[in-house]
Amino acid sequence: MLSTISINNYRSVRDLSFSLEQLNLITGANSSGKSNLYRALKLLSETAQHGVVNSLAAEGGLSSAFWAGPENFSQAMYTDEQPVQGIASKTVKRLKLGFATEHLSYAISLGLPIPSHSAFVLDPEIKHEAIWYGERYRPSTILAERKGPLLRIKDKSKWQVISQHVHSSVSLFDQINNPAIAPDIFLLREFIRSWRFYGDFRTDQNAPSRQPQIGTRTPVLHHEGNNLAAALQTIREQGDEQMLDTTIEDAFPRSRLEISRLDDGRFGIHFHQYGLLRPLSGAELSDGTLRFLLWIAVLLSPSPPPLMVLNEPETSLHPDLFPALARLIIQASKRTQVWVISHSHELIESIETLVPHSRIQLEKRLGETLITSQNQLNIPPWSWPDHR
Ligand SMILES: Nc1ncnc2c1ncn2[C@@H]1O[C@H](COP(=O)(O)OP(=O)(O)OP(=O)(O)O)[C@@H](O)[C@H]1O
Ligand SMILES: [Mg+2]
Repeated sequence: MLSTISINNYRSVRDLSFSLEQLNLITGANSSGKSNLYRALKLLSETAQHGVVNSLAAEGGLSSAFWAGPENFSQAMYTDEQPVQGIASKTVKRLKLGFATEHLSYAISLGLPIPSHSAFVLDPEIKHEAIWYGERYRPSTILAERKGPLLRIKDKSKWQVISQHVHSSVSLFDQINNPAIAPDIFLLREFIRSWRFYGDFRTDQNAPSRQPQIGTRTPVLHHEGNNLAAALQTIREQGDEQMLDTTIEDAFPRSRLEISRLDDGRFGIHFHQYGLLRPLSGAELSDGTLRFLLWIAVLLSPSPPPLMVLNEPETSLHPDLFPALARLIIQASKRTQVWVISHSHELIESIETLVPHSRIQLEKRLGETLITSQNQLNIPPWSWPDHR
């Protein structure tokens, strides 16, 4: 389970570290930085699947992704006695992302490319990476470190150089992916690769989740919901079928869900709605009904991924559905770590009435994303391994 996330210099996040629990409710007004946190976590997950440099380039490169405000704010800037202005900095600018778990922790630091003849000017460079044992970084607890092109791992207090020529776009996880050489690093890589991010579901008429799809056992829903019918059937056969039926009944009284199997092996949705003489297919469902079925498939997964991040699950749903969605979220959080990023007070309150919980409330101050209830006493201890 992730116990701490730390983000430095990424969009509206100048410098933020916060502790995580099994269930995390992240909320805030429009433009407070919810999606920026979501994107930062997604970038972290991409470090373990060859994607972090490409994703940042696709966002417009580091010069767009870097925090656009000053390195620090003075008290006088907060009280408007002094205009917001930058001061000449002695340190080079880095975007840093990191997380801690009880067992292993990881941090990555990215910087602008050194001017060269390369045409790939938007590609940032991975400047530094480190993996260490435990939650708190100390030089003595380090397991692997990458400094520019040099990558080495520590084995029984002895450094072993893995490569001196790691390309600036390649993460250490791409380079050390052999369980026989470094089993802990391999497991950490698998852990990161299995995080799932949900919320960008398509619901247009051509959305894959509306079409019949080849039915193969699907314990974890695809992030775009492509294999919805198969995932729901897998819950029927291997998961909590009773919760599936109760949730449908809860959300759509007197309705019933059936997964139909076509002759060519494809699975489709048959939604029996009270009052109609025939079931509705996936193509005929309303956006909200389809989305709700997608959330059921995500949250009742028979073998949930270790981390599920739900981005604005309230989208297209009527508030009447929030209590049923809240029950699903709580149920899922008993089996895996869940982040809910939402701007809906009603949804957050529906969850909080069922399980008392402290939310992570975001606010913006002088353009910077902050956590409202955070103070010096409850900031988790975090230090970056790359001090530059
Ligand atoms: N490079 C940057 N530096 C500083 N701030 C940035 C940068 N890029 C984007 N922002 C700011 O981040 C904010 C957007 O944050 P985000 O999209 O995370 O908001 P949100 O909480 O998801 O809002 P909504 O509820 O509207 O989706 C905008 O106000 C934007 O000005
Ligand atoms: Mg947003």
